[in-house]
Amino acid sequence: MATIVPLSAVDPKMIDQLLDAAFGIERRARTAYRIRHGAPVLDGVSFAALDEDEYLAGSIQLWPVALLDPAGRPHPMIMVGPVAVAPGYQGQGYGKALMAASLGALEAGFDDGAPPLPQVMIGDPDYYRRWDFTARHTGGWTCPGSFDPDRLLVRTGNPAILPTEGILGPWPR
Ligand SMILES: CC(C)(COP(=O)(O)OP(=O)(O)OC[C@H]1O[C@@H](n2cnc3c(N)ncnc32)[C@H](O)[C@@H]1OP(=O)(O)O)[C@@H](O)C(=O)NCCC(=O)NCCS
Repeated sequence: MATIVPLSAVDPKMIDQLLDAAFGIERRARTAYRIRHGAPVLDGVSFAALDEDEYLAGSIQLWPVALLDPAGRPHPMIMVGPVAVAPGYQGQGYGKALMAASLGALEAGFDDGAPPLPQVMIGDPDYYRRWDFTARHTGGWTCPGSFDPDRLLVRTGNPAILPTEGILGPWPR
């Protein structure tokens, strides 16, 4: 089963190779990369998964981003992803373990009981709906690049605070 370690425990070059294997080398041109361009990865909530022999099987990275509303106000959010599991390891629970680690760390990070910021991602709704990610509230949102609206997903305990319109980009800008 997966051993989850902080992302910073793994050589960044190995993470790059994993992401190339999971998404292809053209991944850097994706809109998700533009949304978080220049933002620092969030160390305490980003993880890697190792197999029994300590080979790298998967990774998850979270980033500070913001939705800029039509009045020019930035609403801070956390971008989840890429979530990547190496081809030989897919379907064995690594993705679910990585998601549980990051979402658990986000929720544990607020010991005063305050809820975490809304989490946003571009991903497969069939996979991510098990953690309550949904495109229901993102219909008026845009991105700095092309995207499939059905795959622009958000997760929050309080959808009422989400702006109905805006464009996603890095935080800080
Ligand atoms: C998508 C991904 C992160 C899932 O991780 P994983 O370790 O393979 O998946 P897990 O073993 O944790 O989860 C398996 C479960 O997810 C389901 N599942 C896996 N990929 C799915 C997908 N793309 N859509 C819907 N369900 C999916 C499986 O049917 C299984 O369901 P079950 O728990 O009901 O049996 C991984 O396969 C991956 O990195 N793929 C390459 C990149 C990619 O295609 N990403 C697309 C999403 S951004």
